Amino acid sequence: MLAFSESVSFDRRLAPFDIQGSKAHSAMLAKVGIITAKERDAIHAGLDAILAEIEAGKFVWDEKLEDVHMNIEQALTKRVPAAARLHTARSRNDQVATDMRLFFKHACEVISEKIAGAQRAILKLAQDNDDVLIPGYTHLQRAQPVWLAHHLFAYLEMLERDRDRFAVVADHANWCPLGSGAIAGTTLPIDREFTAIQLGFVDAKGKPRVTQNSMDTVADRDVFIEFAHACALFGVHISRIAEDLILWNSAEFKFIELPDAFCTGSSLMPQKKNPDSCELLRGKSARLQGNLHTLLTLAKGLPLTYNRDLQEDKPPVFDSFDQTCLCADVLAGTFTGAEMNRARCSEAVSDPALLATDLADYLVEKGVPFREAHHAVGAIVRIAEKLSVKLNLLPEEEVASVHPAFGPDWVEVFDLQRAMKKRAGTGMPGPAQIKRQFARWQKRLG
Ligand code: ARG
Repeated sequence: MLAFSESVSFDRRLAPFDIQGSKAHSAMLAKVGIITAKERDAIHAGLDAILAEIEAGKFVWDEKLEDVHMNIEQALTKRVPAAARLHTARSRNDQVATDMRLFFKHACEVISEKIAGAQRAILKLAQDNDDVLIPGYTHLQRAQPVWLAHHLFAYLEMLERDRDRFAVVADHANWCPLGSGAIAGTTLPIDREFTAIQLGFVDAKGKPRVTQNSMDTVADRDVFIEFAHACALFGVHISRIAEDLILWNSAEFKFIELPDAFCTGSSLMPQKKNPDSCELLRGKSARLQGNLHTLLTLAKGLPLTYNRDLQEDKPPVFDSFDQTCLCADVLAGTFTGAEMNRARCSEAVSDPALLATDLADYLVEKGVPFREAHHAVGAIVRIAEKLSVKLNLLPEEEVASVHPAFGPDWVEVFDLQRAMKKRAGTGMPGPAQIKRQFARWQKRLG
């Protein structure tokens, strides 16, 4: 039962937050006169010494004391007699809720900075290859030409939404549970707002934010689930990015050369260089989704309020945090070390069929309804296939025979630079827009 019920093996990492919470709580107890200033100071000094010991790796954790909270309180009691008053007007239920909210605020900030690091590495690759065009794909079929930067900027958008999501999670975490007690608060005259301010649970104006229902506070695990969700969705994004890179790295595409340090050879086939970092990014996303699912399932059948089941809420959260940090770093490293194969990109994008839609637009500009234009270009594509010539090399008579609106200038459509320039609207891959997006991301990512 001891091994079964202990949580100190994984919740000991909450120690800095637990100590921060205990210092704020004892400061509040002194402020309202439940303990003396002297007792508060002794408690603070004892907690500081314990934190130093933990950070130095000298603290002895005892699984018989079950969790991080009991381990620290016991160690404090051995040093400071006043420690016997620390747990006044507090329960482990509001204590652990507080520790975790402090943890989430910290974790969201760390992850956001790491994701920004990955974004910077992606932006750098875009900058170094700002003249490279590639085919964009739908259904994994060559669709239309885009600047490589446009494709990479799509990743920046996905990751920026992830950062926004972590900011929202941090905001939802920003309410102080202390004072909720085990379930129904306390009979003692505490000052919840004071504690909240001590711990930084404040709004933009510095006003304290304290939770509004003691029962909800100790039962609520929404932020856990939201955090795991933000990690899981980040996982979906990096998995899709990784899949692009795996394809681009294959001999079939050969658009990119991934860094050796992030790849391995095959133990059997000497010619192989496997895209390990990308495959693992794709694999880790499964794990991040699993953690979210664990938390959803853990919470779903529980009667209010705290139930011991909730001790199981921490391993998936910590795992999501650790893996998300690693993934963001490895994503950054993969892009930093990657090199584009410019010749292969240019060869792939020179396929004139990529501009078939532009040819239809050409007819539209001559007054032809789009459906009719689409049909005419379809016929031209079929003729080109039959004659085994590239679309832009078809004899003019062939083209003119399909639709009278085709003039001698039809072939100008296949000038790639010209085609790109025409994509001038917001969100499109035209050169003016790309320039604007470079400026926007440079400003945003510093
Ligand atoms: N180790 C416990 C957890 O993580 C702390 C809260 C325990 N509360 C209780 N009433 N047993 O959930």
